[in-house]
Amino acid sequence: MKTEVVRIDPARVSGAAERQAIARAGEILRQGGLVAFPTETVYGLGGDAFDADAARKIYAAKGRPSDNPLIVHIARREDLERVADGIPEQAEILAARFWPGPLTMILPRKPEVPRETTGGLDTVAVRFPSHPVARELIAAGGGFIAAPSANASGRPSPTLAAHCIEDLNGRVEMIIDGGEVGIGVESSIVDLTDPSGIPTILRPGYITAEMLAGILGQVRTDPGLIGREVRPKAPGMKYRHYAPAGRLSLYRGEGDAVDRILRDAVIKMAEGKKVGVIAADETAGRYEGRGFLVYPIGSRQHGEEIAHNLFRVLRQCDADGVEEILSETFYEGTLGEALMNRLEKASGHTIIDS
Ligand code: TXA
Ligand code: MG
Repeated sequence: MKTEVVRIDPARVSGAAERQAIARAGEILRQGGLVAFPTETVYGLGGDAFDADAARKIYAAKGRPSDNPLIVHIARREDLERVADGIPEQAEILAARFWPGPLTMILPRKPEVPRETTGGLDTVAVRFPSHPVARELIAAGGGFIAAPSANASGRPSPTLAAHCIEDLNGRVEMIIDGGEVGIGVESSIVDLTDPSGIPTILRPGYITAEMLAGILGQVRTDPGLIGREVRPKAPGMKYRHYAPAGRLSLYRGEGDAVDRILRDAVIKMAEGKKVGVIAADETAGRYEGRGFLVYPIGSRQHGEEIAHNLFRVLRQCDADGVEEILSETFYEGTLGEALMNRLEKASGHTIIDS
Protein backbone atom coordinates (compact mmCIF):
# COMPACT_ATOMS: atom_id res chain seq x y z
CA MET A 1 0.00 0.00 0.00
CA LYS A 2 1.26 3.48 -0.78
CA THR A 3 0.87 5.86 2.16
CA GLU A 4 -0.02 9.42 1.26
CA VAL A 5 1.43 12.07 3.58
CA VAL A 6 -0.40 15.41 3.64
CA ARG A 7 0.60 18.47 5.62
CA ILE A 8 -2.19 20.40 7.38
CA ASP A 9 -1.38 23.45 9.47
CA PRO A 10 -3.61 23.21 12.59
CA ALA A 11 -3.99 27.00 12.55
CA ARG A 12 -5.49 26.90 9.04
CA VAL A 13 -7.96 24.02 8.98
CA SER A 14 -10.57 26.08 7.19
CA GLY A 15 -8.34 26.96 4.23
CA ALA A 16 -9.52 25.59 0.87
CA ALA A 17 -6.60 23.16 0.36
CA GLU A 18 -6.85 21.99 3.98
CA ARG A 19 -10.58 21.37 3.70
CA GLN A 20 -10.04 19.39 0.56
CA ALA A 21 -7.35 17.23 2.20
CA ILE A 22 -9.56 16.61 5.25
CA ALA A 23 -12.48 15.67 3.01
CA ARG A 24 -10.26 13.13 1.23
CA ALA A 25 -9.08 11.71 4.56
CA GLY A 26 -12.71 11.51 5.73
CA GLU A 27 -13.58 9.59 2.57
CA ILE A 28 -10.78 7.06 3.30
CA LEU A 29 -12.20 6.54 6.81
CA ARG A 30 -15.79 6.15 5.55
CA GLN A 31 -14.58 3.48 3.13
CA GLY A 32 -12.96 1.50 5.92
CA GLY A 33 -9.37 2.74 5.47
CA LEU A 34 -6.90 4.08 8.04
CA VAL A 35 -5.60 7.62 8.58
CA ALA A 36 -2.98 8.74 11.13
CA PHE A 37 -3.67 12.21 12.51
CA PRO A 38 -2.48 14.66 15.16
CA THR A 39 -4.31 15.21 18.45
CA GLU A 40 -3.36 17.47 21.36
CA THR A 41 -1.78 14.47 23.16
CA VAL A 42 -0.08 12.20 20.61
CA TYR A 43 -0.76 11.13 17.01
CA GLY A 44 -3.64 8.66 16.61
CA LEU A 45 -4.28 5.93 14.04
CA GLY A 46 -7.92 6.31 13.04
CA GLY A 47 -10.50 3.95 11.57
CA ASP A 48 -14.32 3.95 11.58
CA ALA A 49 -15.36 2.95 15.12
CA PHE A 50 -18.52 1.18 13.90
CA ASP A 51 -16.61 -0.93 11.37
CA ALA A 52 -15.24 -4.20 12.81
CA ASP A 53 -12.97 -4.62 9.78
CA ALA A 54 -11.41 -1.22 10.31
CA ALA A 55 -10.63 -2.23 13.90
CA ARG A 56 -8.96 -5.42 12.64
CA LYS A 57 -6.90 -3.34 10.22
CA ILE A 58 -5.78 -1.07 13.06
CA TYR A 59 -4.56 -4.04 15.12
CA ALA A 60 -2.75 -5.46 12.08
CA ALA A 61 -1.12 -2.14 11.12
CA LYS A 62 0.21 -1.61 14.64
CA GLY A 63 1.01 -5.25 15.34
CA ARG A 64 -1.15 -4.81 18.43
CA PRO A 65 -2.79 -7.64 20.39
CA SER A 66 -6.52 -7.54 19.62
CA ASP A 67 -7.51 -7.81 23.31
CA ASN A 68 -6.27 -4.25 23.76
CA PRO A 69 -9.30 -1.99 23.25
CA LEU A 70 -9.36 1.20 21.17
CA ILE A 71 -10.56 4.66 22.19
CA VAL A 72 -13.59 5.99 20.28
CA HIS A 73 -13.03 9.64 19.33
CA ILE A 74 -16.01 11.94 18.85
CA ALA A 75 -16.25 15.54 17.69
CA ARG A 76 -19.50 16.61 19.41
CA ARG A 77 -20.47 16.19 23.03
CA GLU A 78 -23.92 14.88 22.12
CA ASP A 79 -22.43 11.95 20.18
CA LEU A 80 -21.43 10.33 23.47
CA GLU A 81 -24.94 8.85 23.73
CA ARG A 82 -24.45 7.01 20.44
CA VAL A 83 -21.63 4.84 21.82
CA ALA A 84 -22.18 4.74 25.59
CA ASP A 85 -25.14 3.52 27.63
CA GLY A 86 -26.28 4.37 31.16
CA ILE A 87 -24.12 7.47 31.27
CA PRO A 88 -23.63 8.48 34.92
CA GLU A 89 -23.84 12.08 36.09
CA GLN A 90 -20.10 12.02 36.77
CA ALA A 91 -19.54 11.69 33.01
CA GLU A 92 -21.73 14.74 32.32
CA ILE A 93 -19.77 16.73 34.85
CA LEU A 94 -16.41 15.68 33.45
CA ALA A 95 -17.49 16.29 29.86
CA ALA A 96 -18.71 19.77 30.73
CA ARG A 97 -15.45 20.62 32.44
CA PHE A 98 -12.75 18.85 30.38
CA TRP A 99 -14.13 18.22 26.88
CA PRO A 100 -12.90 18.85 24.32
CA GLY A 101 -9.56 17.88 25.81
CA PRO A 102 -7.13 15.17 26.95
CA LEU A 103 -9.56 13.07 29.01
CA THR A 104 -10.87 9.61 28.09
CA MET A 105 -13.83 8.12 29.94
CA ILE A 106 -14.66 4.42 30.24
CA LEU A 107 -18.43 3.84 30.12
CA PRO A 108 -20.85 0.98 29.43
CA ARG A 109 -20.78 0.15 25.71
CA LYS A 110 -23.77 0.54 23.37
CA PRO A 111 -24.33 -2.75 21.52
CA GLU A 112 -23.81 -0.96 18.17
CA VAL A 113 -20.11 -0.53 18.95
CA PRO A 114 -18.41 -3.68 17.65
CA ARG A 115 -16.52 -5.83 20.13
CA GLU A 116 -13.54 -5.64 17.79
CA THR A 117 -13.32 -1.95 18.68
CA THR A 118 -13.57 -2.54 22.44
CA GLY A 119 -11.23 -5.52 22.52
CA GLY A 120 -14.14 -7.77 23.51
CA LEU A 121 -15.15 -5.64 26.51
CA ASP A 122 -18.66 -4.49 27.44
CA THR A 123 -17.30 -1.04 28.16
CA VAL A 124 -16.13 1.61 25.73
CA ALA A 125 -13.46 4.30 26.01
CA VAL A 126 -14.58 7.68 24.67
CA ARG A 127 -12.62 10.86 24.06
CA PHE A 128 -13.48 14.24 22.51
CA PRO A 129 -10.13 15.74 21.48
CA SER A 130 -9.53 19.48 21.21
CA HIS A 131 -7.02 19.47 18.35
CA PRO A 132 -8.55 21.30 15.35
CA VAL A 133 -7.30 18.78 12.76
CA ALA A 134 -8.57 15.86 14.85
CA ARG A 135 -11.98 17.47 15.25
CA GLU A 136 -12.38 18.21 11.54
CA LEU A 137 -11.17 14.74 10.58
CA ILE A 138 -13.51 12.93 13.00
CA ALA A 139 -16.47 14.90 11.63
CA ALA A 140 -15.41 14.23 8.02
CA GLY A 141 -14.96 10.52 8.76
CA GLY A 142 -18.52 10.07 10.04
CA GLY A 143 -18.19 11.24 13.64
CA PHE A 144 -16.87 8.11 15.40
CA ILE A 145 -13.21 7.30 14.94
CA ALA A 146 -11.49 4.48 16.83
CA ALA A 147 -7.89 5.49 17.38
CA PRO A 148 -5.02 4.10 19.38
CA SER A 149 -1.73 5.97 19.39
CA ALA A 150 -0.19 5.77 15.90
CA ASN A 151 2.96 3.86 16.86
CA ALA A 152 3.90 0.28 16.15
CA SER A 153 2.85 -1.72 19.21
CA GLY A 154 5.37 -1.41 22.04
CA ARG A 155 7.23 1.59 20.61
CA PRO A 156 7.11 5.10 22.10
CA SER A 157 3.96 7.01 21.08
CA PRO A 158 4.36 9.39 18.13
CA THR A 159 4.57 13.12 18.75
CA LEU A 160 5.60 13.99 15.18
CA ALA A 161 4.32 12.81 11.79
CA ALA A 162 7.86 11.53 11.13
CA HIS A 163 7.34 9.00 13.96
CA CYS A 164 4.12 7.76 12.28
CA ILE A 165 5.95 7.44 8.97
CA GLU A 166 8.73 5.48 10.71
CA ASP A 167 6.25 2.98 12.16
CA LEU A 168 3.35 2.87 9.68
CA ASN A 169 4.60 3.76 6.20
CA GLY A 170 3.08 1.33 3.69
CA ARG A 171 0.55 0.08 6.28
CA VAL A 172 -2.04 2.89 6.24
CA GLU A 173 -3.74 4.92 3.52
CA MET A 174 -2.83 8.37 4.81
CA ILE A 175 -0.77 10.21 7.42
CA ILE A 176 -1.77 13.79 8.21
CA ASP A 177 1.24 15.87 9.25
CA GLY A 178 0.00 18.56 11.64
CA GLY A 179 3.41 19.32 13.13
CA GLU A 180 4.56 18.50 16.64
CA VAL A 181 1.79 17.75 19.15
CA GLY A 182 1.36 19.92 22.25
CA ILE A 183 1.11 17.72 25.34
CA GLY A 184 3.19 14.73 24.27
CA VAL A 185 1.75 12.06 26.60
CA GLU A 186 -1.54 10.23 26.03
CA SER A 187 -4.87 11.28 27.55
CA SER A 188 -5.81 10.60 31.15
CA ILE A 189 -8.19 7.64 31.37
CA VAL A 190 -10.89 7.54 34.03
CA ASP A 191 -13.14 4.51 34.49
CA LEU A 192 -16.71 5.38 35.49
CA THR A 193 -17.99 1.80 35.48
CA ASP A 194 -16.54 0.58 38.77
CA PRO A 195 -19.30 -1.06 40.86
CA SER A 196 -18.13 1.01 43.86
CA GLY A 197 -19.21 4.14 41.95
CA ILE A 198 -15.78 5.64 42.64
CA PRO A 199 -14.12 7.03 39.49
CA THR A 200 -10.86 5.15 38.91
CA ILE A 201 -7.83 6.49 37.06
CA LEU A 202 -6.50 3.82 34.72
CA ARG A 203 -3.83 5.98 33.07
CA PRO A 204 -2.46 9.29 34.44
CA GLY A 205 -2.20 12.21 32.03
CA TYR A 206 -2.55 15.96 31.70
CA ILE A 207 -5.85 15.89 33.62
CA THR A 208 -4.55 14.90 37.05
CA ALA A 209 -6.08 13.02 39.99
CA GLU A 210 -6.23 16.34 41.87
CA MET A 211 -8.16 18.02 39.05
CA LEU A 212 -10.61 15.11 38.89
CA ALA A 213 -11.01 14.89 42.66
CA GLY A 214 -11.52 18.65 42.72
CA ILE A 215 -14.80 18.34 40.87
CA LEU A 216 -15.90 14.76 41.58
CA GLY A 217 -14.92 14.50 45.21
CA GLN A 218 -13.57 11.00 45.49
CA VAL A 219 -11.30 9.36 42.88
CA ARG A 220 -8.89 6.45 43.16
CA THR A 221 -6.00 5.15 41.11
CA ASP A 222 -6.06 1.64 39.66
CA PRO A 223 -3.76 -0.43 41.91
CA GLY A 224 -2.50 -2.18 38.76
CA LEU A 225 -0.79 1.06 37.73
CA ILE A 226 1.45 1.31 40.73
CA GLY A 227 3.02 -2.07 41.29
CA ARG A 228 3.75 -4.92 38.97
CA GLU A 229 1.81 -7.57 40.87
CA VAL A 230 -1.78 -6.50 40.25
CA ARG A 231 -3.13 -6.72 36.70
CA PRO A 232 -4.00 -3.21 35.48
CA LYS A 233 -7.61 -2.67 34.45
CA ALA A 234 -6.75 -0.94 31.15
CA PRO A 235 -5.51 -3.90 29.12
CA GLY A 236 -2.96 -1.70 27.35
CA MET A 237 -1.21 -0.82 30.59
CA LYS A 238 -0.03 -4.40 31.12
CA TYR A 239 2.29 -4.51 28.15
CA ARG A 240 5.89 -3.30 28.19
CA HIS A 241 5.23 -0.16 26.34
CA TYR A 242 6.50 3.18 25.21
CA ALA A 243 9.79 1.39 25.08
CA PRO A 244 12.93 2.19 23.13
CA ALA A 245 15.05 -0.64 21.76
CA GLY A 246 17.90 0.15 24.18
CA ARG A 247 17.83 -0.90 27.83
CA LEU A 248 16.48 1.91 29.97
CA SER A 249 17.39 2.39 33.67
CA LEU A 250 15.98 5.14 35.87
CA TYR A 251 18.01 6.82 38.60
CA ARG A 252 16.16 8.29 41.53
CA GLY A 253 17.55 10.32 44.42
CA GLU A 254 18.41 13.88 45.28
CA GLY A 255 21.53 15.09 43.47
CA ASP A 256 23.23 11.74 44.08
CA ALA A 257 21.53 10.32 41.01
CA VAL A 258 23.87 12.37 38.82
CA ASP A 259 26.98 10.82 40.41
CA ARG A 260 25.50 7.35 40.19
CA ILE A 261 24.66 7.82 36.50
CA LEU A 262 28.17 9.11 35.79
CA ARG A 263 29.69 6.08 37.52
CA ASP A 264 27.42 3.53 35.80
CA ALA A 265 27.82 5.18 32.40
CA VAL A 266 31.57 4.73 32.63
CA ILE A 267 31.17 1.07 33.65
CA LYS A 268 28.79 0.36 30.77
CA MET A 269 31.07 2.09 28.28
CA ALA A 270 33.95 -0.03 29.53
CA GLU A 271 31.76 -3.06 28.74
CA GLY A 272 31.71 -1.80 25.15
CA LYS A 273 28.12 -0.52 25.21
CA LYS A 274 26.87 2.57 23.43
CA VAL A 275 25.56 4.75 26.29
CA GLY A 276 23.09 7.65 26.34
CA VAL A 277 22.03 9.77 29.31
CA ILE A 278 18.65 11.55 29.57
CA ALA A 279 19.00 14.59 31.81
CA ALA A 280 17.17 17.73 32.86
CA ASP A 281 18.53 20.92 31.28
CA GLU A 282 19.78 21.93 34.73
CA THR A 283 22.14 18.95 35.05
CA ALA A 284 22.82 18.06 31.39
CA GLY A 285 26.12 19.99 31.47
CA ARG A 286 27.53 17.66 34.12
CA TYR A 287 27.56 14.74 31.69
CA GLU A 288 29.23 16.50 28.76
CA GLY A 289 32.61 15.55 27.34
CA ARG A 290 32.80 12.01 28.73
CA GLY A 291 32.30 10.01 25.58
CA PHE A 292 28.62 9.15 25.83
CA LEU A 293 25.58 10.82 24.30
CA VAL A 294 23.59 13.32 26.37
CA TYR A 295 19.91 14.09 25.76
CA PRO A 296 18.70 17.24 27.52
CA ILE A 297 14.94 16.71 27.90
CA GLY A 298 13.76 20.07 29.26
CA SER A 299 13.83 22.15 32.40
CA ARG A 300 12.65 20.91 35.79
CA GLN A 301 11.00 24.32 36.12
CA HIS A 302 8.71 23.31 33.24
CA GLY A 303 7.49 19.73 33.68
CA GLU A 304 5.25 20.10 30.64
CA GLU A 305 8.36 20.63 28.51
CA ILE A 306 9.83 17.32 29.72
CA ALA A 307 6.57 15.48 29.01
CA HIS A 308 6.41 17.10 25.58
CA ASN A 309 9.92 15.86 24.71
CA LEU A 310 9.83 12.41 26.33
CA PHE A 311 8.76 10.16 23.45
CA ARG A 312 10.82 12.08 20.88
CA VAL A 313 13.95 11.65 23.02
CA LEU A 314 13.30 7.91 23.50
CA ARG A 315 12.96 7.53 19.74
CA GLN A 316 16.12 9.56 19.20
CA CYS A 317 18.01 7.11 21.44
CA ASP A 318 16.86 4.32 19.10
CA ALA A 319 17.84 6.29 16.01
CA ASP A 320 21.31 6.80 17.50
CA GLY A 321 21.65 3.09 18.31
CA VAL A 322 22.01 3.64 22.05
CA GLU A 323 22.17 0.30 23.88
CA GLU A 324 22.11 1.52 27.49
CA ILE A 325 19.92 4.51 28.34
CA LEU A 326 20.47 5.98 31.81
CA SER A 327 17.83 8.52 32.78
CA GLU A 328 17.26 10.94 35.59
CA THR A 329 13.73 10.89 37.05
CA PHE A 330 11.24 13.76 36.89
CA TYR A 331 8.50 13.50 39.48
CA GLU A 332 7.85 17.20 39.94
CA GLY A 333 5.07 19.30 38.40
CA THR A 334 1.50 18.51 37.32
CA LEU A 335 2.67 16.18 34.58
CA GLY A 336 5.22 14.39 36.76
CA GLU A 337 2.95 11.47 37.51
CA ALA A 338 1.97 10.91 33.86
CA LEU A 339 5.52 11.29 32.69
CA MET A 340 7.02 8.92 35.27
CA ASN A 341 4.27 6.36 34.62
CA ARG A 342 5.45 6.23 30.97
CA LEU A 343 9.15 6.22 31.85
CA GLU A 344 8.76 3.51 34.50
CA LYS A 345 6.88 1.31 32.05
CA ALA A 346 9.42 1.96 29.32
CA SER A 347 12.16 0.84 31.71
CA GLY A 348 10.28 -2.31 32.72
CA HIS A 349 10.37 -0.77 36.24
CA THR A 350 14.16 -0.70 36.39
CA ILE A 351 14.60 1.96 39.07
CA ILE A 352 17.88 2.53 40.88
CA ASP A 353 17.76 4.46 44.14
CA SER A 354 20.81 6.37 45.20
O1 TXA B 1 -4.30 10.49 24.01
C1 TXA B 1 -4.79 9.41 23.68
O2 TXA B 1 -5.60 8.82 24.39
C2 TXA B 1 -4.34 8.80 22.34
C3 TXA B 1 -4.87 9.72 21.23
C4 TXA B 1 -4.63 9.15 19.85
O3 TXA B 1 -6.22 10.01 21.44
N1 TXA B 1 -4.82 7.47 22.19
C5 TXA B 1 -4.31 6.42 22.90
O4 TXA B 1 -4.83 5.19 22.59
O5 TXA B 1 -3.43 6.56 23.73
P1 TXA B 1 -4.13 3.81 22.98
O6 TXA B 1 -4.89 2.78 22.29
O7 TXA B 1 -2.68 3.88 22.68
O8 TXA B 1 -4.36 3.67 24.52
C6 TXA B 1 -5.65 3.39 24.98
C7 TXA B 1 -5.60 2.77 26.34
C8 TXA B 1 -5.05 1.37 26.34
O9 TXA B 1 -4.23 1.20 27.49
C9 TXA B 1 -6.33 0.53 26.47
O10 TXA B 1 -6.11 -0.71 27.08
C10 TXA B 1 -7.23 1.43 27.31
O11 TXA B 1 -6.94 2.72 26.83
N2 TXA B 1 -8.65 1.16 27.10
C11 TXA B 1 -9.36 1.36 25.97
N3 TXA B 1 -10.64 0.96 26.13
C12 TXA B 1 -10.75 0.50 27.39
C13 TXA B 1 -11.81 -0.06 28.17
N4 TXA B 1 -13.03 -0.22 27.66
N5 TXA B 1 -11.54 -0.41 29.44
C14 TXA B 1 -10.31 -0.25 29.97
N6 TXA B 1 -9.27 0.27 29.29
C15 TXA B 1 -9.47 0.64 28.02
MG1 MG C 1 -0.71 3.54 22.78
